[in-house]
Amino acid sequence: MQTIQFVDLHTQYQKIKPEVDAAIEKVINDSAFIGGKYVNEFEIALKTYLGADHVIPCGNGTDALQLALMALDLKHGDEVIVPGFCFVAPAEAVALLNLTPVFADVDFDTFNISAETIASLITEKTKAIIVVHLFGQPANMKDIIGLAKKHDLKIIEDVAQALGARVNVNGTCLQAGLAGDIGCTSFFPSKNLACFGDGGAVFSNDDELAKKVRMMANHGQQKKYTHELIGVNSRLDGIQAAILTVKLKQLGIYLLTRRRVAAFYNERLDKINWLQIPLETEYEAHSYNQYTIILDPSIHRAHLVAYLKEKGIPTMVYYPGTLPEQQAYQVFSKESLRNSKELSKRVLSLPMHTELEPDQQQFICNALINYKL
Ligand SMILES: Cc1ncc(COP(=O)(O)O)c(C=O)c1O
Repeated sequence: MQTIQFVDLHTQYQKIKPEVDAAIEKVINDSAFIGGKYVNEFEIALKTYLGADHVIPCGNGTDALQLALMALDLKHGDEVIVPGFCFVAPAEAVALLNLTPVFADVDFDTFNISAETIASLITEKTKAIIVVHLFGQPANMKDIIGLAKKHDLKIIEDVAQALGARVNVNGTCLQAGLAGDIGCTSFFPSKNLACFGDGGAVFSNDDELAKKVRMMANHGQQKKYTHELIGVNSRLDGIQAAILTVKLKQLGIYLLTRRRVAAFYNERLDKINWLQIPLETEYEAHSYNQYTIILDPSIHRAHLVAYLKEKGIPTMVYYPGTLPEQQAYQVFSKESLRNSKELSKRVLSLPMHTELEPDQQQFICNALINYKL
């Protein structure tokens, strides 16, 4: 039986092991565990890669979202629009700060919120939108920026799943995360750029917002023991930063590989009439953190998952429910989001990583092609 992994971190590490191990050893030898040289080096490297004016490394992607929101100076009860079909972190950060998450439906074909799904939710209390570029596919930022400008709303982009993806905004190609006001990312081990533990970053071209985020992440201080704001402690540690500096050099290749893996799937799976392959639009370059298909309603997803599992093919369901349906979030909305709900029943993510071999992919595709309805 094939041994196919959903994500293969071990093989990826083996290919850069000497460099990663040397980088870790240096941090240990220098005892530069918190802040210092290696975190600064990574910050500069990521700034250069993104072409961002400011990068603020932090503890994880959820912290990044919280820090971005804290920097916006919102007040209790202000509303922030978040996707209803998504990982919980954006809604969670909003709710934790005593703000009100307002759940927007997503487009069925892109999994993302759009100007159309957001527009009717805007009220006098709306102050910001968190756009999540789900599965690595950027949302239509041109239209969302247009809407946000009209209503004077701030845009936080969550690129935890989409670092390195690009968006086209009025003919300009931008890094996902730099089209809005603040970008937030995660370096969780399965992400496009990933460390060996927890890590995250906030980035922005807005000097004031970036200054505030940096203070917020460091107990509200610019100068040691001078606390101008009530902040938190959220740090990327030296070992993770050193690993990320090594891996950032590979990010271009990793992204190309993800796109190649996706193209292989697309070519073969497009012929199957009971599933829909991921859409690529003219306004974005997908970074394929996940390869997520949509099953026809006639397909019993649990049966298909069991059939694939029997053949040694792991799959994941991101996400099996919508956020407003979750117990903790029902207090904010009872509204049913049609597309979100439908997607939560019909999505299936296939193995997608930088080490997937063509013969393994062919095996996965054959298994799907031969699936008896
Ligand atoms: C879209 C999205 N936002 C935020 C996060 C949170 O990142 P972290 O796990 O680093 O806190 C994740 C993590 O999976 C995510 O997928």
